[in-house]
Amino acid sequence: MEPSPDAWRAADDYLAETLIGHDPALEAALAAQHEAGMPAIEVAPVSGKLLNLLVRMSGARRVLEIGTLGGYSTIWMARAVGEDGLVVTIEAEPANAAVARASIDAAGVGDRVDVRIGRGADVLPELAGGEPFDLVFIDADKESNTIYLDWAARLGRPGGVVIVDNIGRDGEIVDAGSADPKVVGTREGLRMLGEDPRFDATALQTVGLKGWDGVAVALLV
Ligand code: DHB
Ligand code: MG
Repeated sequence: MEPSPDAWRAADDYLAETLIGHDPALEAALAAQHEAGMPAIEVAPVSGKLLNLLVRMSGARRVLEIGTLGGYSTIWMARAVGEDGLVVTIEAEPANAAVARASIDAAGVGDRVDVRIGRGADVLPELAGGEPFDLVFIDADKESNTIYLDWAARLGRPGGVVIVDNIGRDGEIVDAGSADPKVVGTREGLRMLGEDPRFDATALQTVGLKGWDGVAVALLV
């Protein structure tokens, strides 16, 4: 088979069908997101399942998500924290947060999700002084990735996990002269993950339903 975006999508569909299957609550969340006019930039099903597994593999009980959108990844992680767990998820757009809240409740995990409305840079300081988070998923405006990583290190616990979505950007991350603020923000975040002693990180490129992109995974040391 020739590599092409269509071939990546077909293979991703096959993997999702084989390993994940039909999931009415998640599909309803995507339908509500679409209906509300939000872009289809949620994580792919295989990535949502990966988030779910990383939460369970790391034993995370307190999860922080920056960038709720329609609540798709939130539901995946809320299922993983267990009945006594908590996902705090931050969404800048109140209309998105309302849709996410309804989808999260309809998925049966509303009791373990706290949706905070506001920009990350405003909401994150409010979380200081609370119990530390075991896992932080950063998936918001890429321009602010270094701010979010700094807060992840401050609010996370040593041994905690930090995951950053969208680190591939169609390969544009190699362009040191890029004028695209999302590329610049992504590159600055990756540089921080490489240089800042609070993180021990790697990143994987991905191809699939969401095109050519990637995810970074870090341990808080
Ligand atoms: C964009 C943001 C995302 O979180 C994503 O998964 C894909 C694209 C974007 O802002 O372009
Ligand atoms: Mg994303």
